[in-house]
Amino acid sequence: MIKKVNHIAVVVPDLDDAMHFWVDALGLELSHKEHVASQAVDVAFLPVGDSKIELLQPTDDESGVARYLAKKGPGMHHICFEVDDIEAALARLKEADVQLINEVPATGSDGRKFAFVHPKSANGVLVELYELVAG
Ligand code: CO
Repeated sequence: MIKKVNHIAVVVPDLDDAMHFWVDALGLELSHKEHVASQAVDVAFLPVGDSKIELLQPTDDESGVARYLAKKGPGMHHICFEVDDIEAALARLKEADVQLINEVPATGSDGRKFAFVHPKSANGVLVELYELVAG
């Protein structure tokens, strides 16, 4: 069911400041940045082997990520697992009485499907599932 960790997301107040640790000190490389308007975040992608660290900087004060940063401060936001079949994965989780944030997967601009599991059902961890487009 689970293929690998696709990414670990970390919320930061400022992407450029965050590079001091993740790139300059730790030695990861910045592959690219993008703005995700639907979630009001700028994202920096830092590959680590077959996975990546995604740094999230909120670009407004209202989004979920902005409220998370205001309430909890910078830190780990979610972990994302890549699955073969997201509908099957969600059905299996529902069957196990796991609380889902997205009962039906959303579709990203690149066609990938994604859904979040509620942290209440995952030991306080926000868990994301990805099903990538084949090819
Ligand atoms: Co994510």
